[in-house]
Amino acid sequence: MSTMNRQWRLKKRPVGDIGKDDLELVESPIPDLKDGEILVRNIYLSVDPTNRIWMSDIDQYMEPVGIGDVMRGGTCGIVEASKNSGFAPGDFVIGGMQWETYSILPGAGKLPADTGLPLTAFMSVLGATGMTAYFGLLDVGKPKEGETVVVSAAAGAVGSIVGQIAKIKGCRVVGIAGGPEKCQHVVDKFGFDACVDYKKGNVLEDLRAACPNGIDVDFENVGGDIMDDVFTLLNLNARVSLCGMISTYNAADDWTGPKMFRNILMKRAIVQGFIITDFLGRFPEAQAEMGQWVMEGKLKWDVDVVNGIENALDALDRIFTGKNVGKQLVRLSDDPTA
Ligand SMILES: NC(=O)c1ccc[n+]([C@@H]2O[C@H](COP(=O)([O-])OP(=O)(O)OC[C@H]3O[C@@H](n4cnc5c(N)ncnc54)[C@H](OP(=O)(O)O)[C@@H]3O)[C@@H](O)[C@H]2O)c1
Repeated sequence: MSTMNRQWRLKKRPVGDIGKDDLELVESPIPDLKDGEILVRNIYLSVDPTNRIWMSDIDQYMEPVGIGDVMRGGTCGIVEASKNSGFAPGDFVIGGMQWETYSILPGAGKLPADTGLPLTAFMSVLGATGMTAYFGLLDVGKPKEGETVVVSAAAGAVGSIVGQIAKIKGCRVVGIAGGPEKCQHVVDKFGFDACVDYKKGNVLEDLRAACPNGIDVDFENVGGDIMDDVFTLLNLNARVSLCGMISTYNAADDWTGPKMFRNILMKRAIVQGFIITDFLGRFPEAQAEMGQWVMEGKLKWDVDVVNGIENALDALDRIFTGKNVGKQLVRLSDDPTA
């Protein structure tokens, strides 16, 4: 057992893309446990687009990470020592929220030991990523059988799961992703009906061809020009589930809003933003249904693992440059379930 912790701290707020010296990796001794606490050796760190939002001092859904503070981000790991009667060494837990190799916590979510699933499943399809896809599509997008659902960032962690749930619900599903390989992947592995390669540059016409009956649900992950093209093809009473706008997170200057917003009016569409934490109390119901789909082989997922906490910023960069295929994780220590 190590006596030292390694943590990424925010040194200064990024302007535009995250710079190498905006954060620093520091070592410090792990303090002694107090009554009620557990010591967790973290195994995986989730890096997410929202990490970039948390680094900015803007009005958002949580407090930004303070300068000098440990960077915020979800972890899972194994209990190494416990002064909490609810936890024993060897328990797998989830719920640490810092970029660090060890966490001292007052407790955490215990992960089931007997599912046969790797730990990475609980950091992806059955974790916050899967929950985002489930509630964002079903509760916010409200797809009906036979409707057309378009999903941007379709090969990504959330998007790939959204498309599969929409297929389970009997919809025509069209993805938007960057590059021919990713587009082929979402069709072959995740069963999308079609996928538009936005990097080819003809998004509106390619989308029009892939959605001959127009678009009823937009699961929006990207924003910007791609969202405008989707808005152009919305049907009457369409729903836009506004999950994310990754194309804007690194913007250093003001960016232009949607040009086709008028179609929300013309088509009497509903745009609803959501944050997954709004649904925390309902995670068990979604995990039960998603777990069933996973066990039946109806739901597949990708994880993309980078090794070592020292590479956490590179892992985050992969999300903004589209190098990741599926849920981007950082392995912080050995995973006995892998
Ligand atoms: N509302 C919530 O509670 C919630 C929760 C989780 C995630 N989200 C949002 O969901 C979206 C997807 O997140 P994720 O964790 O699943 O990440 P992800 O899709 O696995 O990774 C992000 C993907 O976005 C694409 N991308 C990056 N920059 C882009 C740009 N400028 N234009 C077009 N595409 C770009 C890249 O794919 P390509 O190679 O295809 O470009 C990249 O692989 C993000 O907007 C995130 O903020 C929201």
